Amino acid sequence: MESIWTKTCQLPQRESLPGDKTCEIAVIGGGMAGILVASFLQDSGHSVIVLEGNRIASGQTRNTTAKITSQHGLNYAKLFETMGKERAAQYAMANEAAIDVFRRIIHEKQIDCDFEECSAYVYGKHTDVLKREANAAKALKLPAAYVEDETLPFETAGAVRFDGQAQFHPLKFLKALAEPLTIFEQTMVRKVEGNQIITNRGTVKADKIIFACHYPFVNFPGMYFARMHQERSYVLALKHAEFPEGMWIGAEKGTLSVRSYGDLLLLGGGSHRTGENKTGGQYEWLRQQARRWFPGSQEVACWSAQDCMTADGVPYIGQYAASEPDWYVATGFQKWGMTSAMVSAMLLTDQIEGRWNPFGQVFDPVRFDTAAAAGIMEEGKQAVKGLTKRILEIPEEQVSALPAGQGDIVSLNGEKVGVYKREDGTLFPVEIKCPHLGCQLEWNPEEKSWDCPCHGSRFDRFGNLISGPAQNGIGVRDGDDGNKDELSG
Ligand code: FES
Repeated sequence: MESIWTKTCQLPQRESLPGDKTCEIAVIGGGMAGILVASFLQDSGHSVIVLEGNRIASGQTRNTTAKITSQHGLNYAKLFETMGKERAAQYAMANEAAIDVFRRIIHEKQIDCDFEECSAYVYGKHTDVLKREANAAKALKLPAAYVEDETLPFETAGAVRFDGQAQFHPLKFLKALAEPLTIFEQTMVRKVEGNQIITNRGTVKADKIIFACHYPFVNFPGMYFARMHQERSYVLALKHAEFPEGMWIGAEKGTLSVRSYGDLLLLGGGSHRTGENKTGGQYEWLRQQARRWFPGSQEVACWSAQDCMTADGVPYIGQYAASEPDWYVATGFQKWGMTSAMVSAMLLTDQIEGRWNPFGQVFDPVRFDTAAAAGIMEEGKQAVKGLTKRILEIPEEQVSALPAGQGDIVSLNGEKVGVYKREDGTLFPVEIKCPHLGCQLEWNPEEKSWDCPCHGSRFDRFGNLISGPAQNGIGVRDGDDGNKDELSG
């Protein structure tokens, strides 16, 4: 499964870290946030190194729907209520500024990245809710309006429209921006101790360290695991699908997100918390929606994305923790990675250069107030559920009922293990304890992976790490016959 971005843009390969190095600023993570902040800091005259465990943009940047918008669902009415007008205004100002900076960089650097100005819409069934959001956004000086006279594609009462928004090709943009940067790929960070970053290729000493690696993997200090979880969502790219101008997203659960790219339509939806997808079927549901709303359309690509969700719905951007003054973090972008990445680059550059930033307070990672408290409690409950849940008892004879190409948690020789059944019927058993903080992994039938419901680490069917916060794969279980990776089904 490959996104249309990776199908239409190849990024040149970079070498791995060749040994120990010293620099002023090290950025961990070569996605949109890492590359943007590295670019800003290098342009300001700093010596910067980017360390990427895989290839640049190989995480969520290649799977985004690449909407550049300050409209983040229906969040302004909520922010008003939970954080007050001042902080809601900071959030709005930061994201509007992010759109302007994208526009300026693309113009100044002449980046050919299919940048297109358009409006963004949240459509929904409840007029009062939509009007309340439009009024909250207008009070924050956002270019918002409630509309009911648009050609709405779905069964809706109306929509909130934001003008002056945009969309683009994220990899074409990132490729141009990354070109002058010092980036080391296939360089996996194992540990960070003070100003030293220990990788599988050598140690980097840096005055300042920025964690821009999607989910911060250092558990203490920071404790991001206690205030963030991850969600997955799914996208189809369709040919021959007519749709009105603009980027659209539904206000209610179970609705669709839509944008165009050239003659393609990107249809997204099917979100769920990572690790809570026992039945699967997300792609099939999207395909049904495509047949219903876009009869005659033809699927040309499908892919999925994973997003970090914070306790209070606002990203964590700023100092990593009070006890580590030289560490910075950019995470928890919800489902709005493009503007959040740009906000991170602006804010962290100001902080590292000792400048006051007008929207620093709302994104401060060490904030903790009543708005976040409820979310943190909920994260804690979910994590405890993942830690203590009783392992599903499946009698051994049911292993034979497991369909080929699927996995499950089974009792095997008196012990509980995860097993994946290959197409030829042989079983591949793995440990089901997440190496991050020990929660029980769950089988994801849609994507044939082992996913952690606590903080969203993912492992392929053979136990190899797909994404963190875990930093290692899961162990392979021994079989009776001493064969490490084969048990008879
Ligand atoms: Fe934290 Fe699995 S990701 S315990």
